[in-house]
Amino acid sequence: MFFCITLIASLLAVLPPASASSACRCFPGDACWPSESAWSQFNKTIDGRLISTVPLGTPCHTPNHNATACAVLKAGWELPEEHYESSSSVMAPFFANGTCDPYHSVSKPCTLGNYVWYSINVTSPAHISYALKFATKHNIRIIIRNTGHDYNGRSTGAGALAIWTHHLKDLEIHEYKDKHYAGKAITMGAGVQGFEAYEIADENDLQVVGGECPTVGLAGGYSQGGGHSALSSRYGLGADQVLKWEVVDGQGNFITATRDNEYSDIFWALSGGGGGTYGVVWSMTSMAHPGTPVSGLNLTYTNTNLAASSFYSTIEKFHENLPALVDAGAMCIWSYTNTSFVISPITGPNIPVAKLVKLLEPFTAILDKLNINYTMSTGQYSSYYGQFKDMQGTIEVGIAQYGGYLIPRSVVENNNKALVQAYREITEAGATFIGVGLNASHKVSGDVYNAVLPAWREALIDTTLTTPWEWDDDALMVERQNQMTYEFIPKLEALAPSSGAYMNEGNFQQPDFQRVFYGSNYDALRKIKSKYDPNDIFYAKTAVGSAEWREREDGRLCKVNQWQPSCAEYGTV
Ligand SMILES: Cc1cc2nc3c(=O)[nH]c(=O)nc-3n(C[C@H](O)[C@H](O)[C@H](O)COP(=O)(O)OP(=O)(O)OC[C@H]3O[C@@H](n4cnc5c(N)ncnc54)[C@H](O)[C@@H]3O)c2cc1C
Ligand SMILES: *[C@@H]1O[C@H](CO)[C@@H](O)[C@H](O)[C@H]1NC(C)=O
Ligand SMILES: *[C@@H]1O[C@H](CO)[C@@H](O)[C@H](O)[C@H]1NC(C)=O
Ligand SMILES: *[C@@H]1O[C@H](CO)[C@@H](O)[C@H](O)[C@H]1NC(C)=O
Ligand SMILES: *[C@@H]1O[C@H](CO)[C@@H](O)[C@H](O)[C@H]1NC(C)=O
Ligand SMILES: *[C@@H]1O[C@H](CO)[C@@H](O)[C@H](O)[C@H]1NC(C)=O
Ligand SMILES: *[C@@H]1O[C@H](CO)[C@@H](O)[C@H](O)[C@H]1NC(C)=O
Ligand SMILES: *[C@@H]1O[C@H](CO)[C@@H](O)[C@H](O)[C@H]1NC(C)=O
Ligand SMILES: *[C@@H]1O[C@H](CO)[C@@H](O)[C@H](O)[C@H]1NC(C)=O
Repeated sequence: MFFCITLIASLLAVLPPASASSACRCFPGDACWPSESAWSQFNKTIDGRLISTVPLGTPCHTPNHNATACAVLKAGWELPEEHYESSSSVMAPFFANGTCDPYHSVSKPCTLGNYVWYSINVTSPAHISYALKFATKHNIRIIIRNTGHDYNGRSTGAGALAIWTHHLKDLEIHEYKDKHYAGKAITMGAGVQGFEAYEIADENDLQVVGGECPTVGLAGGYSQGGGHSALSSRYGLGADQVLKWEVVDGQGNFITATRDNEYSDIFWALSGGGGGTYGVVWSMTSMAHPGTPVSGLNLTYTNTNLAASSFYSTIEKFHENLPALVDAGAMCIWSYTNTSFVISPITGPNIPVAKLVKLLEPFTAILDKLNINYTMSTGQYSSYYGQFKDMQGTIEVGIAQYGGYLIPRSVVENNNKALVQAYREITEAGATFIGVGLNASHKVSGDVYNAVLPAWREALIDTTLTTPWEWDDDALMVERQNQMTYEFIPKLEALAPSSGAYMNEGNFQQPDFQRVFYGSNYDALRKIKSKYDPNDIFYAKTAVGSAEWREREDGRLCKVNQWQPSCAEYGTV
């Protein structure tokens, strides 16, 4: 199903021939693929930590079918936990590609398909270094895999060797001082997940910036891609917190990068310029902020007895209310379809709950005026983690396809009616809107040096749009993602053509992704990649440099375009 989705005709024209040419990564079955004994020799150099992929869904298919085990897998398939404990599974169903899961016919044997061929359960930088050297020597595709949360398939790939960072769990709270910051800091191994960092911070009366999903990895795709948080209107994005990276670059060198040392260029790139691109992060040191009381509010209503025009007028009012809310330091998550609206939740770090309720009054007053029977629930907590555990609901995976766009504050201030009209057309056509309302401007982030997409600084609404996933209708899924690409997102782009989209929650088919996901940082990022990854060992879909490669139908990765350092990168291929 992979490439029916892009413009096949134009691609075929540039694809190299099907034989294993050096323009393509060596693929299992090719003559260049290392022998069993070469793999076995390699396994010894990495302390026997090489894992041959057995896809997670194996008990659901012949000849290994086990109905009991498969039922357990099916019950947990839409929860992140099941996937990040696996060395190969990924949560985004489009990229799992239906080759081994509980939703397809038992009689169809599993194939590895788009799953990695091998992974390495790394526990030392040397394992990573050896892996990169082995892969470079044999021209093998490398994947950096942490939790497998990525919506755009960047943590999986056919015929690849994965560097699996999940078990790098070192975690330490300490003092930190440099020219720009003095205070508490948290150093996390690359495998540390949100809940682990929140917990240790909480025990130390601190709070750290992390995602809404407690199991996303903080030092992986999240902080490297930007990272929005319930605390972002108070402290900025995940990437804004970073003080130091330890990273193994594309040639296997272990580097400690800070804003002020000789590696400040890769420090800048790793902080917001995208995961899986410049090196394999070993650890991240970030600011840890003093703990505060945190309030929360959630609210929900439906369109019962309400004309569509009134229902959408409440959304217009909600937008008008957002600047005051986020400027006070609150962050808001909300979602709606054409029939129901949910705030889930508003987080108010150091905002007393009574003030939070008051900040929302212009909106609730309109609900009262329209006689809308809404349910509101509020809470006051002594810490962020307390609020998080009580008010942040479970987020399911494998149920949707995604696309997104950042809406600048100016659109809400000057063109709110047109914005609501666009959202109305999109939700009436069957998509679900999910919003993140925040103020991550430089006034909030303070003096930072990083590659965060500049559009984040102007954004008021990080829009995510989703369409429902069906396991048994590939053609419809392609159609829906095309509708996302060519119909939904363009309605938002038209309102703010120079804004952009959050790479971690954007559309994997995003045209002109270089500008939309990276903005004016793209050229500088591409140069830094060529310095630290001169052999182009790192590739990930929509990552910097990725337009120079194509994944074929069977997943084979082939070079299609040489990077020219002197050329502008925008719009290549
Ligand atoms: C349920 C859910 C909730 C989410 N909530 C939020 C949220 O609240 N805020 C937010 O900003 N985002 C959120 N996201 C998006 C999330 O930030 C991305 O999916 C992110 O890519 C996950 O990073 P990971 O390292 O955990 O995942 P992976 O899928 O394992 O990796 C993602 C990317 O990072 C690269 N990578 C991972 N580890 C390393 C490393 N050590 N060195 C170099 N590259 C690495 C991978 O190669 C890949 O390209 C959510 C996603 C899901 C599925
Ligand atoms: C790597 O070596 C370990 C230890 O000998 C072994 O358990 C494991 O199966 C090997 N991996 C592969 C893919 O052969
Ligand atoms: C099937 O799976 C269950 C649960 O994992 C396990 O207890 C059982 O031994 C398995 N049966 C066979 C025949 O492997
Ligand atoms: C994905 O699945 C399609 C069939 O649905 C198959 O043709 C293709 O080869 C698969 N791609 C990969 C990378 O496994
Ligand atoms: C990976 O390594 C960790 C740490 O040594 C170990 O606890 C875990 O069981 C390993 N997992 C697999 C699947 O090899
Ligand atoms: C964001 O919040 C800060 C205060 O934290 C405020 O100074 C600023 O005006 C707000 N709005 C914008 C667009 O920066
Ligand atoms: C309002 O909603 C509540 C709970 O959803 C319900 O019990 C109640 O009957 C509703 N009231 C009206 C007037 O619709
Ligand atoms: C709102 O938060 C409360 C906890 O404070 C929770 O019990 C309730 O389920 C939440 N409601 C919604 C709609 O999220
Ligand atoms: C609401 O969305 C659904 C799902 O796409 C659609 O069938 C329905 O017609 C829409 N209703 C209105 C009033 O737009």
